[in-house]
Amino acid sequence: MSNGRERRAPGRPDDFQTPAWALDPLWPHLWLGWHIWEPACGKGNLVRAMDERGFTVTGTDITHGTDFLTADPPPFNCLITNPPYSIKDAWIERCYALEKPFALLMPFTALEGKRRQAMFRRYGIEVIVLPSRIHFETPTGRTDGRAWFPTFWVTWGLDIGSALTFWQEPTPEVIMDKEVVVIDRQLCIFEV
Ligand SMILES: C[S@@+](CC[C@H](N)C(=O)[O-])C[C@H]1O[C@@H](n2cnc3c(N)ncnc32)[C@H](O)[C@@H]1O
Repeated sequence: MSNGRERRAPGRPDDFQTPAWALDPLWPHLWLGWHIWEPACGKGNLVRAMDERGFTVTGTDITHGTDFLTADPPPFNCLITNPPYSIKDAWIERCYALEKPFALLMPFTALEGKRRQAMFRRYGIEVIVLPSRIHFETPTGRTDGRAWFPTFWVTWGLDIGSALTFWQEPTPEVIMDKEVVVIDRQLCIFEV
């Protein structure tokens, strides 16, 4: 019998690598002391980005011998990844079962499907929509083409504060007596 993992083939979205900026909407919702697990780390783009931000990060992948669906988890406080899309249901189910905050970068179609919707209804989700399509790195190393599918973060336990957030990159402006500037893609507020 065929399952999602057996259907994986090079060139499918299962093998796309995510650019670091995709994490930008998540930074304000992550605690710096957290140990983050990236359980489908691929080439490690997200692991590097989180490590550079000062987080303790463990990156694992089935290609390095750790099957997320069956492996014992490392110690972690929060799980963040762009998972393989061919096994969305099983992936989401396991995330909820681990009972730790998670954020999964997924195509909009992840909202479809009876099994997924049943889980979302039962446990809840908070969704962060990205402002543009991501230029994923393809299995052949190309980064110049936009993915043909829009993506969002499916989150749980991160206290985003809204079921649906249309995230946009912070822009510099002066509000009242505060100067608001963007440093390294983060909003910084100074008294003026
Ligand atoms: C879409 S890629 C994303 C890679 C990385 N997370 C990123 O965002 O740059 C999905 C990754 O999931 C891995 N993968 C597929 N099935 C897996 C499983 N059952 N357990 C762990 N990793 C798996 C693949 O090897 C691939 O590296």
